[in-house]
Amino acid sequence: FRPPFPPFDPTDTSGFSYETVVKRWPVILASIVDQLHRENHELHIQGQASLHEDRITEGKAIIEKVSKLKYDMARDHVMEPIPSDGELHTDCYNTELQELAKSSTNYWFKAPWLYAECYLYRLLRSYFAQSIHWRNFDPFHAQKLDVFKKSGTSIYGIATIMHELESEKSTLTSDPAKLKVFFQEMIQMCLWGNATDLSLLTHMSLVDIEKLQSVGKDMQAARKEFIMRDDKEEAWNHLITVTDGRVDFVLDNAGFELFTDLVFADFLVTYTPYVSKVVFHPKLIPWFVSDVTPPDFDETIRSLLDFSSFSSAPPPSAEQHQHLQKLAERMKQYLSEGTFSLSVPKETALSGGSGGSQSMAGFWTTPVPYWDMEPHDPKLYEFLKSSDLVIFKGDLNYRKLTGDIRWPALTPFDEALGPLAGSFPLLSLRTNKADVAVGLDSEVLARTEAKDPKWRVNGKFALISFLEKRH
Ligand code: F6P
Ligand code: MG
Repeated sequence: FRPPFPPFDPTDTSGFSYETVVKRWPVILASIVDQLHRENHELHIQGQASLHEDRITEGKAIIEKVSKLKYDMARDHVMEPIPSDGELHTDCYNTELQELAKSSTNYWFKAPWLYAECYLYRLLRSYFAQSIHWRNFDPFHAQKLDVFKKSGTSIYGIATIMHELESEKSTLTSDPAKLKVFFQEMIQMCLWGNATDLSLLTHMSLVDIEKLQSVGKDMQAARKEFIMRDDKEEAWNHLITVTDGRVDFVLDNAGFELFTDLVFADFLVTYTPYVSKVVFHPKLIPWFVSDVTPPDFDETIRSLLDFSSFSSAPPPSAEQHQHLQKLAERMKQYLSEGTFSLSVPKETALSGGSGGSQSMAGFWTTPVPYWDMEPHDPKLYEFLKSSDLVIFKGDLNYRKLTGDIRWPALTPFDEALGPLAGSFPLLSLRTNKADVAVGLDSEVLARTEAKDPKWRVNGKFALISFLEKRH
């Protein structure tokens, strides 16, 4: 599919893509170097250095590679081919690189932003994949875990809301109007869960995190005016036509956001007659700093079940503990009985059961816009076509849905999706952290432009976009 406009790239120095290459990627690369130094240093202070000499040497070699990458990037050097490291998509990335070379855009400051950013994380993966001792190392894991641990207040808050819901279960299930209200609250919680994104927020205090995640009624109401397109109603009208259906979550970030996804999924299967199965789609390699990998998914469930996982001030009460315990037990049960499943290749399948194969799970770490999903991964495309609702979480998924193209903001959502439009019922929940935005109303656009010119990228605004399946 060839869209009628070019993609975003850093040649526009006023765009967020330029700021990313200049400021954000160097910070991310520096944090990987720091993390590797810390890991090596740990071995020294534990007196284990001589035992792990090879690991330390390999670690140093990876530090050098990452440092060189940072240097090359800052000087707009050519983007090197992905080495044959035995992992997925080498050809896919390198073929595109050759294409870019034809127009001399295979450079860090010239390549399309979406491609370059996916390439960056795939290239980083090759440094670890080619090693022996760091093959399974996730350089972002410590960061992901650290922020998750600081999310206690909001997690306990949500667990209590879910507990209160339980006492109203019979009223809820017999009264669709009430169910609808909760459905809308759930969407909003799940949407703002996307605000905790580590690639954007590098240094956050506990207070900052709590503020971002607060889910209280007032907060939700206050944030409503920041939702620039709100298709909650349309999503609900679709959902009620489904019975015992399957919902797919194309996941974004680990930690708090994943928790909100699990809560939304729990709500759908526990309280509504519409959904009886949920499939979660993670990333198979460390991705965009905070994205969910299969080990993150597994760890999240374990953390929720473990009292000592979270720090919160004030500390949670015994009741709050109980509320979370009950919720997490139910999630665990859903996983073990297959009501929830993780779409991962069989050999790495965690938490019981898999909804997919290697190719299906691998697609999410290609640079391919979703309108080309069918030719690239027909199996995945077919699988999603059998879904009753596919929920795409977060900013990167939105960029891939729209191809990260310079669409005018008034372009209809379905037009920006290209041939993917209508393939399956689709709901995108995204807080705005990149330039692309479509499907807006001209009045909302004008009002928001006047209020906050940074609305496209500062993470304060959001879009809830729904599109029905074409029959
Ligand atoms: O670095 C750019 C980016 O893709 C932004 O679009 C966004 O800030 C972030 O990385 C990923 O956001 P999300 O986790 O919501 O996909
Ligand atoms: Mg992400």
